[in-house]
Amino acid sequence: MQLFHHITALQQQLDQWRRAGERLALVPTMGNLHEGHMALVDAARARADRVIATLFVNPLQFGPDEDLERYPRTLEADCERLTARGCDALFAPAVETLYPHGQQDLTRVQVPGVSEGLCGAHRPGHFDGVSTVVSLLFHITRPDLACFGEKDFQQLAVIRKLVRDQHFPIEIVGVPTTRERDGLALSSRNGYLDADQRRIAPRLHQRLTEAVARLNHGEERQRVLAETLTRLEADGFEPEYLELRHADTLAPCLPRNGPCVLLVAARLGSTRLIDNRRLRS
Ligand code: PAJ
Repeated sequence: MQLFHHITALQQQLDQWRRAGERLALVPTMGNLHEGHMALVDAARARADRVIATLFVNPLQFGPDEDLERYPRTLEADCERLTARGCDALFAPAVETLYPHGQQDLTRVQVPGVSEGLCGAHRPGHFDGVSTVVSLLFHITRPDLACFGEKDFQQLAVIRKLVRDQHFPIEIVGVPTTRERDGLALSSRNGYLDADQRRIAPRLHQRLTEAVARLNHGEERQRVLAETLTRLEADGFEPEYLELRHADTLAPCLPRNGPCVLLVAARLGSTRLIDNRRLRS
């Protein structure tokens, strides 16, 4: 696998592949790669001739009190994982490479609607940071397709709208969530959990699964949501939201008349965990 830190060298290689008629797939990440990220690489590999991963801990998408400083940076291990998985190139730019004129006056891309509410309400500016950096990465790499995880369900919806509104000629592939055996969705942030918290963490997925089963069964929505929140609190979580939304638009799901998804975010100590499950449609 080739490692690129600079835009021009990366683009020369990508141009060469494009000229040879090869199909390029992009897998954007913030590194500290795990099997969830590798599922995206596999999905990309299955659909393209060349897989290009990106590794950039994007300061724009972190709030002032969030974990930008302590976010795990593990470039060497990440390169090994990507190489073993057949990734062709990794673009790992410095902040000054992507934002050479600083972040203050940077042109931003904002995706209204789907980026509001849910995580958008609890992390002001987060999705503006995501859509801005993803738009930049799309412009720099011009892939045929790009893979994103369903674990970050709202992010995937934001990217789909970004691509549609900005007419990016890029196919967006959503990849199902990779989980630990106990159900916990893999996340770079799981490494923040201490042993006790790690024991509790899978209950987030368990409670979500129970709630989805009850909703599928036709139980009254308000009661299911309220009881699930109470149970999560009793488990030791501080829930931020638990909401039923339309799976495509993320509009509130009242009354249920299309594919629906139940989304949750909760804190366990200082660690923020998110998860989601679709309802039977
Ligand atoms: P990061 O959290 O590193 O995630 C990179 C990609 O991996 C995202 O598309 C995310 O949804 C996917 N992913 C993470 N955990 C997953 C899991 N358990 N199963 C399946 N996919 C999983 O998301 C970001 O980085 C950033 O916001 C980014 C899009 C790179 C923009 O900076």
